[in-house]
Amino acid sequence: MPVNRLSDVATVGVGLNLTEYEVLGIDAPINVADGHARQPLTDTQAQVIDELPQIFAAAHSRPIAEVEREAHVAYLSAVGQHGAPVGTDRILTTYSSSVAMDILARCLGEAGATVALIHPTFDNIPDLLRSRGVRLVPFEEPDIAAAEIPAEIGPGDCVFITTPNNPTGVPVPPEQLEPLAVECRDRGALLALDTSFRGFDERAQYDHYRLLTDIGVDHVIVEDTGKLWPMLELKLGLLVFSEDLALPLRKAYSDILLTASPLIMKLVTHLAADAVAGGFQAMRAGIAENRLLVLDRLAAAAMRTPDGDSKVSVLRVELPGANASEVAACLAAEGVHVLPCGPFYWNRPADGERYIRVALARPRETVERAAERLVAVATAA
Ligand SMILES: Cc1ncc(COP(=O)(O)O)c(C=O)c1O
Repeated sequence: MPVNRLSDVATVGVGLNLTEYEVLGIDAPINVADGHARQPLTDTQAQVIDELPQIFAAAHSRPIAEVEREAHVAYLSAVGQHGAPVGTDRILTTYSSSVAMDILARCLGEAGATVALIHPTFDNIPDLLRSRGVRLVPFEEPDIAAAEIPAEIGPGDCVFITTPNNPTGVPVPPEQLEPLAVECRDRGALLALDTSFRGFDERAQYDHYRLLTDIGVDHVIVEDTGKLWPMLELKLGLLVFSEDLALPLRKAYSDILLTASPLIMKLVTHLAADAVAGGFQAMRAGIAENRLLVLDRLAAAAMRTPDGDSKVSVLRVELPGANASEVAACLAAEGVHVLPCGPFYWNRPADGERYIRVALARPRETVERAAERLVAVATAA
């Protein structure tokens, strides 16, 4: 029986990280918790899947370095990153962006770096950094626009930005990245970016590599194919870095893997080609439709999102009360899984209790049902 009254539900789940919440919802009837791609395949993506035996054979018969380079060219050019160092040894291909992140975190930890980390952001980023002994200071999202880097950051330290950000969807445009990069360069600090969600937002597809290289700032960029295409977790994370970087990223990578799978590299090459030939447009239209659907249900209940400009595949919903953990627990009890936003606010979790995050890369009916139940539960208090 659905549980509608918040007072009926004990606050369960407090203390979980976001991935733990996502695991609880993974096979639930209505899962809009994780931000992984779970929308239906488009016709042309389905064609790519039909060709898997041939793709496997092609991956098998060619040198891995060639297959890998093709995937780098296809993906990075599909998202506008023509200045990326394709063809050099400064792109490390991993199974997922978290693996890339952990390699970076390890090297920063060993170097004794302090990291000014965007606040809020997806919690596995601060968790991985802390687990490798990195000291974190919050870099509030609104301060990024003014390039107001925390005073603690000096030579050998790092500024880490997620762009577009998860969960807010806020991208860092070139006119903000430039002063940030200049300031990092002048302080002798590394500028690191997680661009996992850039495929959804053309505002995040100007050539970051060209801009950062021209400024001459040390930089590392984590790229990710995993949020875009509904491929049952077949994805690549790329760890891309500037010339003469002091951190031993390649050495740390070699402790973890030899290469990612050439089959997945080939798959990414095909999907990126499909994306350029209209797939990105179709994907963005589907996400936009689901976003409108949620906004429509919110408006009917006089509720709103704080992320009006967001284009990414997740959306925050502002609650009438600061009780996201309770609302999430109440919904979970009836098989509807969302994320309470507390853990995104890794420095002040109470700030996130005002918001629930809803994943939009889902079938329309799933998003519709989730939005209806969310509105009903949130307004029942
Ligand atoms: C911004 C960001 N970076 C990295 C990750 C980790 O991705 P993966 O689980 O594919 O390693 C996530 C997961 O949601 C994320 O939101």
